Amino acid sequence: MIQMVDLGRQYLTLKKEIDDAVADVLAHSHFILGPKVAELEKKIAAYHGVGHAIGVGNGTDALLLALRACGIGRGDEVITSPFTFIATAEVIAGLGATPVFADIDPDTFNIDPALIEKKITPRTKAILPVHLFGHPADMDPILAIAKTRGLTVIEDCAQSFGAEYKGKKAGSFGRCGCFSFFPSKNLACCGDGGMVITDDEETAKTVRMLRNHGSAVKYYHSMLGYNSRLDEIQAAILLVKFSHIDRMNEGRRRAAELYRTHLAGAGGVHLPGEAPWAKHVYHQFTIRAKHRDAVMNALKKNDITSAVYYPLPLDRQEVFAAGGRKDGGCPVSDRCAALVLSLPMFPELTEKEVIRVCDVIRGVPLE
Ligand SMILES: Cc1ncc(COP(=O)(O)O)c(C=O)c1O
Repeated sequence: MIQMVDLGRQYLTLKKEIDDAVADVLAHSHFILGPKVAELEKKIAAYHGVGHAIGVGNGTDALLLALRACGIGRGDEVITSPFTFIATAEVIAGLGATPVFADIDPDTFNIDPALIEKKITPRTKAILPVHLFGHPADMDPILAIAKTRGLTVIEDCAQSFGAEYKGKKAGSFGRCGCFSFFPSKNLACCGDGGMVITDDEETAKTVRMLRNHGSAVKYYHSMLGYNSRLDEIQAAILLVKFSHIDRMNEGRRRAAELYRTHLAGAGGVHLPGEAPWAKHVYHQFTIRAKHRDAVMNALKKNDITSAVYYPLPLDRQEVFAAGGRKDGGCPVSDRCAALVLSLPMFPELTEKEVIRVCDVIRGVPLE
């Protein structure tokens, strides 16, 4: 059996360190906003070269709190990608704002900056690029549009911990970078967790208050907030994994290179792009295949899991259907949804396993 992500294998490689870290928390018993959360925030802010990092309950809340801290609310529009997990647009709509979808580039699966400008209206307040599958979005043109049009940039880095754009870490470009530590992510805990990073002191202060019931001083509340704090035990586990993150991302990049070698020239298969300015961290290795469903079935028959991220773009989801597709929609994203297949990808994936996956794919006839 080859799984998409083998979390058990990863735990075994770090077992002693993780067990000791959890035991530490149980011993000090400072379970809410304790020293491990503070240490992780300090280390992750430094890793990204920004002034502040705020641990929150999950990646969805990281986006929610960041949008609120940036003043996004009722009547506003936020331009984002239709080819992402629901959380990206869910939080925009949940605040009474409207997600406006700009189509993607088929090689990187990320928002196409050339299509953003024509989506801007007087109500547009922000652009929310997603660094999907671990490949950074093309930030320079996005930042240039935001600057000339007076828009805020908030990055969805849920899948891109450690990715780089022109040598600089994804998440450090916009006013906020929002991370998820969901168990399958590149930097992952053993439950839910998330983080907002920012170089702006006021934004950091607001996110800190929002995560803790709108309070800076205990039992005094100046705004409506949430209970969305990163758990101390999860922070302890994250500190262990963070100390291995560059090595683990290199493991993913090594597995991606092996896929590239062993799938080179495979009929009907397009490999994912890696732009010259990008350091891809391969949260997913996602191919496009004309015979996608046949490939998926063949892998399943050989005890290999694969997954379709994402079968239905967000602009086509029932929940957003009322927004309509008056402008021709997002045809590239529609096409990708019909072709994409994500293959097993995790740092400990062996060469033998990659070769087995590739042999099965090569053996599937093009119908
Ligand atoms: C692109 C993207 N944004 C946001 C999220 C939300 O993160 P979480 O599941 O931690 O709430 C995810 C995670 O699944 C994601 O993949």
